[in-house]
Amino acid sequence: MQILLPREEIAEAVARIGKEITADFAGQSVVLIGVLKGACMFLSDLARQIELDATFDFIAVRSYGTKKESAGEVQLIKDVTSSLRDQNVILVEDILDTGLTLTFLKNMLMAHHPRALKIAALLDKPSRRASTIDADYVGFQIPDRFVVGYGLDFAERYRNLADICVLENEAVVE
Ligand code: IMP
Ligand code: MG
Repeated sequence: MQILLPREEIAEAVARIGKEITADFAGQSVVLIGVLKGACMFLSDLARQIELDATFDFIAVRSYGTKKESAGEVQLIKDVTSSLRDQNVILVEDILDTGLTLTFLKNMLMAHHPRALKIAALLDKPSRRASTIDADYVGFQIPDRFVVGYGLDFAERYRNLADICVLENEAVVE
């Protein structure tokens, strides 16, 4: 598979985002909320680059559609387990594509009355946006290609690749 983002570049971007979050919330605590399963690698690496008092939580969603595209209908299948009231929440996601998933999650988390709610997305495909939402922390803006690795999957496979790669034969695997 063709490598789009090698592991060294990913590590640099994650370190940069960790520094930004550390500076933005200096002297405060943060709750990192990972969106399962895609964000698991990003969250675990990012957490180690944040020099603040931090806790983790996880949510999971299911979105209907094809294997490569969400249909915009997002369903929560695992909620947070801790109270987010007055907390500095950072929603950690692998990729911001159409934006429908993060729009849904942002609205849901705002109902918990956090003190701050920020979005950290490792990847951003701005050309695909269908909902007006932006991430506060972005690793890379990428073109409209389907990518796998470092947590990102195609039909649950390839999450364990250390580099982010462009899925080959994109046309035939729909
Ligand atoms: P959105 O609701 O369209 O922004 O979709 C976000 C979700 O779609 C991500 O959490 C991924 O699970 C999935 N997704 C979007 N683009 C890709 C990709 O290129 N590779 C793997 N998953 C993707
Ligand atoms: Mg995902």
